[in-house]
Order: sequence, then structure tokens, then C-alpha cells
Amino acid sequence: MALFTDEVSRTFGEYLLIPGLTTKQCIPENVSLKTPLVKFEKGQKPFIELNIPFVSAIMQSVSDSGLAIALARNGGLSFIFGSQPISSQAEMVRKVKNFKAGFVTSDSNLTPEHTLEDVLNLIKRTGHSTIGVTEDGTSNGKLLGIVTSRDYRISHDSKDSRIKDFMTPFSKLTVGKVGMTLSEANQLIWEHKLNALPIIDQDQKLVYFVFRKDYDSHKENPYELSDVHKKLLVGAGINTRDYKERVPALVEAGADVLCIDSSDGYSEWQKETLTWIKQEYKGKVLVGAGNVVDKDGFYYLAEAGADFIKVGIGGGSICITREQKGIGRGQATALIDVAAARNEYAQRTNTYIPICSDGGLVHDYHMVLALAMGADFLMMGRYFARFDESPTRKLTVGNRFVKEYWGEGSNRAKNWQRYDMGGTESLKFEEGVDSYVPYAGKMKDNLNITLGKIKATMCSCGAVSLPELQNTAKITLVSSTSIVEGGAHDVILKE
Ligand code: IMP
Repeated sequence: MALFTDEVSRTFGEYLLIPGLTTKQCIPENVSLKTPLVKFEKGQKPFIELNIPFVSAIMQSVSDSGLAIALARNGGLSFIFGSQPISSQAEMVRKVKNFKAGFVTSDSNLTPEHTLEDVLNLIKRTGHSTIGVTEDGTSNGKLLGIVTSRDYRISHDSKDSRIKDFMTPFSKLTVGKVGMTLSEANQLIWEHKLNALPIIDQDQKLVYFVFRKDYDSHKENPYELSDVHKKLLVGAGINTRDYKERVPALVEAGADVLCIDSSDGYSEWQKETLTWIKQEYKGKVLVGAGNVVDKDGFYYLAEAGADFIKVGIGGGSICITREQKGIGRGQATALIDVAAARNEYAQRTNTYIPICSDGGLVHDYHMVLALAMGADFLMMGRYFARFDESPTRKLTVGNRFVKEYWGEGSNRAKNWQRYDMGGTESLKFEEGVDSYVPYAGKMKDNLNITLGKIKATMCSCGAVSLPELQNTAKITLVSSTSIVEGGAHDVILKE
């Protein structure tokens, strides 16, 4: 037995940063949040670097293709959840890789035989008022026309009228050809005073729409994370059971990096999975592993070939693992321990394996503390679940807007593989809850505030890059009374 009696397992709320010298160069505009995602040899560049140190959690209620597109456009990366059939996960990956800024795959299509009533119902469902009329009603069928609100008058026209009688037919449409650039498409939109430009292939099949309102969208994303072909980067979660089928499908779909998703990653199953992937793909497929909470776990997965290692057991906002199983460690203590192992390993082997702090980040200042304690990047679920772009429903509870958020180990997710220890007796108890989180609006608006705060703190610490922050940060423990001192106190707050 090893009894850690002299260790108190601590978390982020128990620490603060002590400012360092802020030089005149230390201004937010000069701060870089670039960080390595995967391992690299000393003196070389990592194969993937994030432009902001955030990745989204491998969860049904967080990381689908919609959130993945939004996050990559803002410089981070999503891991598409693996607790779904292989084909649908691969489809989500493909959707991210096929995303082209400004080129929208239509989700509103009907055939010429549909009626005005069908048009109105579709608009109600999707919220999109431009409808592609295709031979078979699919998003990539032969384009026969389009319907916009200019084509009918609700008060005047019969709801039974057929689309073919009021649509703008193909012969009268201005269309673009697949392969054209966004600026060429915008030129056509401008010249012909259009609101929507359908893009077709050589068989007249609908491929995309370009909308006037998207004209400048690509200029708003200076941190966009993309590959050499200008396609967004995306990751995907895998498990230690069906990896021999799942990994080939995800690689085929274009996933840039994989991550074994498990609450406890210090296991022979993870080693077996890593070994198989590394041998099968001759080291060309990048894969992270975890989660671990101490040096032993880090060294084990490092030797097994992990490209990055995730840290954290039991700290997630929806997580009840510690209550259910009595395993885990305070997230800050775990991170500091694993970061020391990462640094020692890098010194000894010349290989730097990035670590990710996963779960339990509540306030923006927790994020900068985690980075200062040695995390190369941060995985968050709750943070992203609150945004418009997350895949769950927005509801009203009482007088506030909320979004749904549930754990991968909750009954709702039924992702028992994540917790199963193998063997014949599979585990069937919950390690997560089903919950709501306060709705917070658009991802971009929130990221701007969070990243602004992180940069400002880094400047106070005298650091303009994350390695600099890790090297120079001075971190102090706080007492419970000084935490009270840190908030507004001894004043009567106005409503
Ligand atoms: P959050 O950012 O604090 O909400 O934590 C998200 C993290 O919690 C995920 O990245 C997972 O590591 C972890 N997690 C997700 N679902 C569960 C669960 O059901 N039980 C325990 N941990 C979970």
C-alpha cells in the first residue's frame, strides 16, 4: 500500500497567480496562444499545433460536426464523440472536412411536386427560407429550381399550389460551378444582385449554396485551424473495443487525430489499442490516450506510444466517478504531478508529449491556472455545451434559458464502454448525470472574452507565450478566508 498522507488533493480554486514583471512588450496583442497538440522531438515542429489551447470534450452533448466546425474556425479542435455507430461518427468527421467557408450544404430541399404548405412547414422546421428544388428532393439531387420568399404570397396563394408552378426554374437561375472560389461566387452574387447562389456540378446536381450574408465570414476567423488543403482540422474519440473497425473508418473519413476516450486510461487495453494503431498505420495516425492522474499513468501511456496524454479523473462538472468508485485526484494536484513527469520525460528522451487538462474548469481564471501549471491544452465539456453551436436543445427552465448537458457515463448516453473494465461482467452503473447548463449565446463572443482574460493574465505574469507562462508562473495556495477576500465583500451590492 502507498499511503499519500502528506498529499492534499487540490483543485484550481485553491490557487492564485502572483504577477511577474510586465514589460512594455507584454500586451495582449503580442500574446500567442499557440500550443502543440501532439508529440514532437526537441528542435522540431509538432505535426499539429492548436491556435488556441482549447479542445471540446468527447461527448454526445458537446462535440458533433456543428460544434467542431465552429471551434476549428476559432482556432481549437473538437473530438467528435465516439458513443455512436461508426458510420454516423465517420459521417460527422466527413462533414467537418468537407466544410468550406461560405459554401453551405443545403438542409432545405423539396421536389417540384411538393406544395406551398410543404414549403412553409420546412421553413418552420429549419428556419431557412431558401429552398433547393431538386429532382428527388435531396440536397445533392439534380437542381430544377429554387424557392425563396419572393416566389409566393402567403395571404394570396393557395397552400395546395405546386412548387413547379411558382418556383424560379433552373432556366432563369444564375448558378455557380463547383470548384469556383468564394470570391468568384461573391462576384456573381454582386453582379446579379442575388441573395443566394446555387453551386452545381457537371451533371447539374446541387452541391452548395453561397449566401450573400456569408460574404465576409472568412475574414472574421484569423485563427482558423486548417490543414494544407485548407480543410478544417477535426479529431474523433475511439474506444478500446471496436477500434479495429472504427479507426479505419475514421481515418478514411479524414480525421486528423484520434483520442482513446476512457475515464481511467492506465490500462493494458489502452496499450493494446495504441500498439495496434501505431503498427497498422506505421505511426502515421496520431492518437492521444488517457485519462491518468499521476506520473505512473503518464509513463505507461508515453511508453505505449501515445501522442498526447489526458489528465483528470472525477473533476468533470457532470461526473460522479469519485462518489461512485472512490477513484480520482484533485485536478490541480494531478496536473502538477503529470506535468513534472512530462518535463522529466522530455529531458530524458528528447520527446515532448503534450498533456491536456480534462474536466473541472469552471471559471476563466481556472483555465489560465491550468495552463500555468503545465497543461499544453484544455478539454472542456460544460464550457462548450452552453453555446448555440452545441448539439443539444435550448430550453426555458423557470425564467432562464438553458441547454441540456449530460455525461457520457449517464444513463442517457448509455456509453458503458467508456467505463467498462473488460471481462465478461460488464459494469452498468452511472458515472455521470443528466443536467442543464445556463445558455450563453454564440461561441465566438464567449471565446473572445475568455481568451481576452487569459491573455491579460499572461501579461500580468510577464508572459507572451504558453511555454513562457509555464516557465515563469509563480503560483500560490490560498486560504479559505483569502478566497472570501477575493470576491466583493463588506459592501451592500446593488441589484
Ligand atoms: P467539464 O468540462 O467539467 O464539464 O468536464 C468534461 C469532462 O468530463 C469530459 O471531457 C470527460 O473527461 C468527463 N466526463 C464526461 N462524461 C462523464 C461522465 O459521465 N462521468 C464522468 N466523467 C465524465
